[in-house]
Amino acid sequence: MQGPELWSAVDRYLDERQAPHDAALDAATADAIRAGLPQIAVTPTQGKLLFVLARAVGASRILEIGTLAGYSAIWMARALPPGGRLVTLEFAETHAAVARANLARAGLSDQVDVRVGAALRTLPHLEQERAGPFDLTFIDADKRNNAAYFDWAVKLSRRGSLIVVDNVVREGKVLDASGTDRDVQGVRELHDALRADARVSATTIQTVGAKGYDGLTVAVVN
Ligand code: SAH
Ligand code: DHB
Ligand code: MG
Repeated sequence: MQGPELWSAVDRYLDERQAPHDAALDAATADAIRAGLPQIAVTPTQGKLLFVLARAVGASRILEIGTLAGYSAIWMARALPPGGRLVTLEFAETHAAVARANLARAGLSDQVDVRVGAALRTLPHLEQERAGPFDLTFIDADKRNNAAYFDWAVKLSRRGSLIVVDNVVREGKVLDASGTDRDVQGVRELHDALRADARVSATTIQTVGAKGYDGLTVAVVN
């Protein structure tokens, strides 16, 4: 065994030990499949990482951009203390409906607010409502808007807040400077913006696993 097959087998080994099967998460995945949603949620160990990071910063307000079926939202919402809140932004009403049902089954409806609309339109509402500062933001929506989402995340943060961005390596396509893929361009815009962004300290870790070869950026607000 080698390559993606091996990475998946190691993920299964780690999942069993650190992110074991769980009724609400398994049901969320099953319903996402049944509803025909794309199978692009974070993996169990990645979900656990979001949970660990939320706990590490004592997050009581969490923002997510890109809900899909609520799988990562369940992981993060479970890290909230009593009275904590997660706001998750989703463009597709169909995805949001599946997510709301999955969050309800996980017993998290009171903690999680699923908002429908293009995130660049709904983020300004959060600012107007003074919904922040968020202690943790997870950016995982359309990659072409990554740099703009990151900018919003910083605006809605406090000193010490964490910002995590998914899918920032894309099988190495991030090196493709001349390509026309808008999503790859969006990932590159984020990395270029980070080079000059004194508001944060950021790092990117390449990952392999059940979702192939990709990467995660983690930033702390200075
Ligand atoms: N975070 C989820 C996966 C998100 S997949 C998990 O790990 O479980 C990306 C999601 O972003 C999709 O549901 C897609 O509909 C949504 N999305 C795409 N463009 C968007 C936009 N402009 N605003 C908000 N959400 C968007
Ligand atoms: C895609 C999106 C994701 O958020 C992800 O984790 C993997 C793939 C995609 O749009 O292809
Ligand atoms: Mg993703």
